Amino acid sequence: MGGRSAIRAAVIAVLMAALGHCRFRVTEARNLFQQNPSATLREGLAAGPVPLEEDDDLPAVLKDENLGANEAWFTAAESGNITAINSMLDNGVDPNAARDDGSTALILAARFGHKAIVVALLEASAQVNGYDNSGDTALLAASSAGHVDVVSLLLQAGADPSHSNDLGLTALSAAAQAGHAAVLALLPGQPPDLSVALLVAAEAGQTAAVSALIKRDVDLEMRSPRHSGATVLGVAAAVPGGEEVVRELLRAGADVGATNADGWTPLHWAAAFGDGSVVEALLEGGAQVEVREGDGLTPLMVAAARGNVATARALVGAGADVNARSTETLQTPLHFVLTSGNLKLLDLLLKSGADPKIKDINGDTPGDVLDKGTALPDLSVTQRRVFKFMMGFLELSDVKDGDIQYLYSQLPTARVDQLLAGRG
Ligand SMILES: *[C@@H]1O[C@H](CO)[C@@H](O)[C@H](O)[C@H]1NC(C)=O
Repeated sequence: MGGRSAIRAAVIAVLMAALGHCRFRVTEARNLFQQNPSATLREGLAAGPVPLEEDDDLPAVLKDENLGANEAWFTAAESGNITAINSMLDNGVDPNAARDDGSTALILAARFGHKAIVVALLEASAQVNGYDNSGDTALLAASSAGHVDVVSLLLQAGADPSHSNDLGLTALSAAAQAGHAAVLALLPGQPPDLSVALLVAAEAGQTAAVSALIKRDVDLEMRSPRHSGATVLGVAAAVPGGEEVVRELLRAGADVGATNADGWTPLHWAAAFGDGSVVEALLEGGAQVEVREGDGLTPLMVAAARGNVATARALVGAGADVNARSTETLQTPLHFVLTSGNLKLLDLLLKSGADPKIKDINGDTPGDVLDKGTALPDLSVTQRRVFKFMMGFLELSDVKDGDIQYLYSQLPTARVDQLLAGRG
């Protein structure tokens, strides 16, 4: 492997993990929790809006030309107008009429927490398990929005808690994601559903939901397909502000050294995506600061490649070796910080004793890597010069005005003054 390709391989490995992490946030749980919405629940659900005929007996709202007869019905359900709903039910409106998006009055009333309307619709034999075009049932809508009373009513009326929507979320997971612990307490669930809900709650950084779920029959070592098989602790560690969730999971006995398919431990997830207090919580929970992932990278290398200054600072503070070398490519954190181009992190490493003269498996120092233009396509010419200057590969006389401006824009004034004075 040549110098460029070695660096590139390491960079790609880290970025792939990073991109994978970003992607699942966007695409959501669809194929990740491997749950398919039940195909049987559509029966009886109206295929579209039920046309209402012009009738002198209809109340005024049903004749509103602008809204359309059906729209008045759905608007009343959303806005909580029980008078209008009762009036329209008396006039024979189909309680299961659906909008183009598949939502029924029951789903809408449940979503907005209109309990009296939910009661009226259920009494009028509205179908409790109908779902809209996103797969959301009334129970899912109410659970996601945290309407405890409505959830309770729907369950009594036979709502199916095992139904999942098109994103793969059950009512339990929807409540977990939104952090509604009181709703979680009402919802029954089989152990796999509970464990999935725990993953969802951890990913969403919902401490109260995590606390509620770990008291139930969950598997703390259940794997998240969205994190290449990380356990719930790894999922939680990747969340900035997730310290309390991490501590809660550690107290419950989650394995601090559990690895995913790429050998990433929770500390690697924290180093890349979390924050300093998540790192500290994991270290206090027994995580090893020099633990290696599948390609032999330490958490500090991962933090450097991601440009996560907060976690790098916490790791260095905990004694992380700033001159550790990756198992396969022998790169140091200084090699990896070239990937992120983060000057603050570079400065942190240098102040902490990082040695820029250490060579990787190809005999390249970080300065050599910077000279090989194509290895780090995202670094600007200015960034390259400033990095080389900071690491002692470039004299002050070769630094340009723009480089100095860049230095002042990135680092504290006193630190830049010191760097410039020291190298006159
Ligand atoms: C509720 O609907 C009725 C029609 O049934 C209407 O007269 C009334 O103004 C509505 N109330 C509100 C608060 O919109």
